[in-house]
Amino acid sequence: MKILVATEKPFAKAAVDGIRNIVEGAGYELALLEKYADAADLLKAVANADALIIRSDKVTPAVVEAGRKLKIVVRAGAGYDNVDLPSCTAKGIVVMNTPGQNSNAVAELAVGMMIFMARNQFQPGTGTEINGKRLGIHAYGNVGRLVGRYAKAMGMKVSAFDPYAAPAVFEADDVEVVCSVDALYANSDYVSVHIPATPETKKSLNYDLLSKMPKGAALVNTARKEVIDEEGLIRLLADRPDLKYATDIAADAQVELNEKFGSRVFATAKKMGAETAEANINAGLAAARQVVEFFRKGETRFQVNK
Ligand code: 3PG
Repeated sequence: MKILVATEKPFAKAAVDGIRNIVEGAGYELALLEKYADAADLLKAVANADALIIRSDKVTPAVVEAGRKLKIVVRAGAGYDNVDLPSCTAKGIVVMNTPGQNSNAVAELAVGMMIFMARNQFQPGTGTEINGKRLGIHAYGNVGRLVGRYAKAMGMKVSAFDPYAAPAVFEADDVEVVCSVDALYANSDYVSVHIPATPETKKSLNYDLLSKMPKGAALVNTARKEVIDEEGLIRLLADRPDLKYATDIAADAQVELNEKFGSRVFATAKKMGAETAEANINAGLAAARQVVEFFRKGETRFQVNK
């Protein structure tokens, strides 16, 4: 049984060592494809793999076609919009994610980005404090929940919008539930975005919605670039010189955003939400364990294409 770990953005060494221990300890073979520059390299490497572990690497119909022996794909992370589910399902390939394993890293980055924007990207000049400000959390899953907890500890007033979250979760966290997405944006000095990229959410953060944000507000996106209507965002930032945008996933139009809006916008050089030693270990080892449990016991708890 060959398990291929294909990571254009590699895991930290400690995580790779841990994955190797789990895979080889179960009697399977580990193959590594790291920092590959060409999608053709993945097509070649996947040809004789029984299982594939990835991060944001794209599992296209061509990858599925090339992976003739593939039985399982595990996305070491939360969002699986990079995996072509219909192709996998059609071939009987089980697809899983590792929910919650890298959430803390992403949540810490979201809070850090709020402070970074409040303090003018650490440039000279007078900034503001996040203490006492209103934070709206757009989607209250594993990451959103942690962002809320940390923000509350820093004195922010936290509310959330998530029609899919159970009321008990909000009650347990004592977080105000907002009943419409418009109301969330209209009443938040900061909005932290945690929605997945789906056909419904793509480009849903558009001019109309974002223009509801109050004076001086900042949008912080550690989710996906696809949820932003970039044309609308550019138009809005031009119309509203008080607004700010920080993202962990550079926009397609990031060069234009930087040129036009300078320190009112910020994008990390490369998506780094889950780029901590801890998150690499948590998500990488969970993925390896899930592969082994699947082969040994048929365990499919985290399957996303049932
Ligand atoms: C996720 O969906 O888990 C995050 O976006 C992390 O993505 P990465 O593994 O590419 O860092």
